[in-house]
Amino acid sequence: MSSSDDATRRAGAVLTVDLGAIAANWRGLRDAGRAAGRPVDCAAVLKADAYGCGATIVGPWLAAEGCRQFFVAHLEEGIALRKAMPEHPIYVLNGLLANTDADFVEHDLTPVLNHLGQLNAWRAAAQRFSRPLDAIIHIDTGMHRLGFGAEEAQVLINERGRLRGLRLALLMSHLVASEEPNSAINGEQLSRFRNFVRAMPGAPTSLANSSGIFLGPDYHFDLLRPGAALYGINPLPGRDNPMLPVVTLQARILQTRRIDAFQTVGYGGAWRSARPSRVATIALGYADGYFRILINRTHVHLAGYRVPVIGRISMDLVTIDVTEIPEALCETGAVVEILGPHMTADDLADHARTNAYEVMTALGRRYARVYVEPPEPEPESEEGPEITP
Ligand SMILES: Cc1ncc(COP(=O)(O)O)c(C=O)c1O
Repeated sequence: MSSSDDATRRAGAVLTVDLGAIAANWRGLRDAGRAAGRPVDCAAVLKADAYGCGATIVGPWLAAEGCRQFFVAHLEEGIALRKAMPEHPIYVLNGLLANTDADFVEHDLTPVLNHLGQLNAWRAAAQRFSRPLDAIIHIDTGMHRLGFGAEEAQVLINERGRLRGLRLALLMSHLVASEEPNSAINGEQLSRFRNFVRAMPGAPTSLANSSGIFLGPDYHFDLLRPGAALYGINPLPGRDNPMLPVVTLQARILQTRRIDAFQTVGYGGAWRSARPSRVATIALGYADGYFRILINRTHVHLAGYRVPVIGRISMDLVTIDVTEIPEALCETGAVVEILGPHMTADDLADHARTNAYEVMTALGRRYARVYVEPPEPEPESEEGPEITP
């Protein structure tokens, strides 16, 4: 028995990640970028442990599929990923912090430079290490979070010498509201980014995250930067999800008990039985990313039955009302679907008043993780889901 079998046997809850679906989603997005006939490339955003799916597994898997460029947020994420992927460019979105340039150089990581101070420090590093270093310039076109503001961008346009000793690997910006196709800010950011790109010709360019890809070819530039859609999150909120589902999460029943009418369940007595009931307790909780706000307001599935979550979410336990479910299905060890065909991360996010990004990135460290590979490695040219931006 392998250690992964052991982990699954011992675990209270198991997260299954379909690597074939991630690869198919990546191919579908790449092909959407190429649909207009331009040689658009498609990167993969692997920050926050590939949105909970496991960056050091997803990264090499997508590299084998033909993905050539990878983004993380933190330097430490880049260092961990570099060990799993010795060759591919890895870009660190949060940029260059003080006294970290040697770490970037040692691990062959490229900082996304978000202001002139970072650019100056990286140029100094290139001098100190006596070799040209790759650099990415992030232009703020409206997010007002990270990136060169308009004045600093103008300094860069006027003083190209500030890039001396650096190889400009990418000019990029990030969209504010790409999931809202009718939002005026999309067009405004597009035109600001185009103006900047025109003033800095020659470098590859990137604007679109997952939802941005669906805004159409004008937004594609040279490099797509999807994260969420790779992992099955719907890039088109309110419309049918064009991506393949990637994760399923199953938790075991630890114990089932009968209670009388008018009894409370869990901390604070936050749920009270209106009739004699059966309550099952399952093995996950808020420490695993099952949010406390889900108290009395979501459900799980057991053999296809919809089962209400009742009472407060505990750190390690959730209680469900199985009164209506055949007893034979509710025995200790029975498996309950938390995420899967009946409840996507987008659905659970609606119940938790958040978004699927938060649901995915909160997926707990205590789950046993099972990676499903397609039976045969699929050739690079094979198509993903058909996506029409
Ligand atoms: C700069 C940048 N690019 C791309 C992405 C990927 O976005 P998404 O997950 O919406 O595809 C992110 C994620 O927040 C980001 O911060």
